[in-house]
Amino acid sequence: MAVLKIARMGHPVLARSARPVPDPCAAEVRRLVADMVDTLNEEHGVGLAAPQVFVPWRVVIFHVPAERGEGAVPFTVLINPEIEPVGQDMTVAYEGCLSLPGLTGAVPRATRIRYRGLDLAGQEVVREAEGFHARVVQHECDHLDGVLYPMRMRDLRTFGFSEEVRRRLAEGDDDRPSDG
Ligand code: NI
Repeated sequence: MAVLKIARMGHPVLARSARPVPDPCAAEVRRLVADMVDTLNEEHGVGLAAPQVFVPWRVVIFHVPAERGEGAVPFTVLINPEIEPVGQDMTVAYEGCLSLPGLTGAVPRATRIRYRGLDLAGQEVVREAEGFHARVVQHECDHLDGVLYPMRMRDLRTFGFSEEVRRRLAEGDDDRPSDG
């Protein structure tokens, strides 16, 4: 187990589509996920995708901490995930990313989604999600297609350094940025 180096925006590994994992039960996949969990915990993030640690595989991990106050989701591994929106509602909220340290921006995402993927035992995980949970899964799965959150933003005036934006939002907006 190890804390891995995180690729930052501009590195080509973040701009490429990642490859499907042929065998989710392989020992190397288990090792990768263990290292990704260590890395995410070290960075206090909520989600991480394999390309962010320079591994071009379709693997993401995430959790929703209880402190968010909208239903905790335990640490989840998704291998070869697929997402579909449920309905047409979109929600705009601030996001951060460990590959863009110190920055945040407001990103529109589908409010509700259905997602599926495989866990480390090769079992299918199928869930419906909304709100922050749905946002994290969409953010992480975007990494597998070379998409970073600024590419989804509609209003670049909301893009900025987290410290500055937090200060502004402290006036009344409770859309807290969170690193995914
Ligand atoms: Ni990210």
